[in-house]
Amino acid sequence: MQIEPYVNISVCRAGSPLADTRTHCHCSLPAPRLLACYHPSVPARGKFITFEGLDGSGKSTQVEKLARSLRAHGLSVTITREPGGTTTGEKIREVLLHSATAGLSPLTEMALMFASRAQHVHEVILPALAEGRIVLCDRFTDSTEAYQGGGRKLGTKPVLQMHEILCGNLQPDLTILLDNEVAFSVERARRRNRKHKGARSEKGSERDENRFEQENRAFFGRVRHAYLAIAAREPHRVHVVNARGTPSETHAVIMELVRKKLKV
Ligand code: TYD
Repeated sequence: MQIEPYVNISVCRAGSPLADTRTHCHCSLPAPRLLACYHPSVPARGKFITFEGLDGSGKSTQVEKLARSLRAHGLSVTITREPGGTTTGEKIREVLLHSATAGLSPLTEMALMFASRAQHVHEVILPALAEGRIVLCDRFTDSTEAYQGGGRKLGTKPVLQMHEILCGNLQPDLTILLDNEVAFSVERARRRNRKHKGARSEKGSERDENRFEQENRAFFGRVRHAYLAIAAREPHRVHVVNARGTPSETHAVIMELVRKKLKV
């Protein structure tokens, strides 16, 4: 079976070792399209944990807290985010989130999210997992299903198809969905962005990541609904965590989940 020599990993989708050339494997699964020669149950793989939720649900705080706790246990952790996570991805992020970006069609928006993600999977996520690291990613494909699929009404199907084609259907080992009322989360995100308005990015340009926060309540209602539908569809992977508590309370719940689920 021909495997695209796309990622330098040593196991295939069924967990079978690759041949020496690393371009062939011995399993009988249909040929993957891009980098799918990869299996979540293979012990050599690190752990891929994603955080999801509405804007202002407190994801970044929880990512940092979890990373600190895991590192304190001596584990190697990579923190990353989407859109972004690579030099190219951060440029795409600026286009996607800047409030001056006007008139993007929903399909273009989805395509840009996936352009950033495909590069991120290739350049950061798979290499880190292949090294056995724990990857904590602030947003992944569930965000596209919730925001572009639900919020922009593109539906689930095109998102999952793009994920298959561009990301080899890579699945997180665990997804933490921080859930809160729409009004509460979005108001928090808007307050934060007002506070940062005028701040400068590393390149010296004004930091402006307001484009999605300008959407109305109905949009975020659809996003939340789509998230909860994903959690209902994939209960083994996606765990809904109530984000109404203090950051420490929420962290304790997440830590317990991570311990149980990933046995760390
Ligand atoms: P993020 O920086 O995580 O915002 P916040 O910290 O406010 O939660 O994400 C930026 C925005 O990008 C957020 O409004 C959600 C949106 N987004 C999508 O619409 N689709 C996607 O696939 C991703 C990754 C993000």
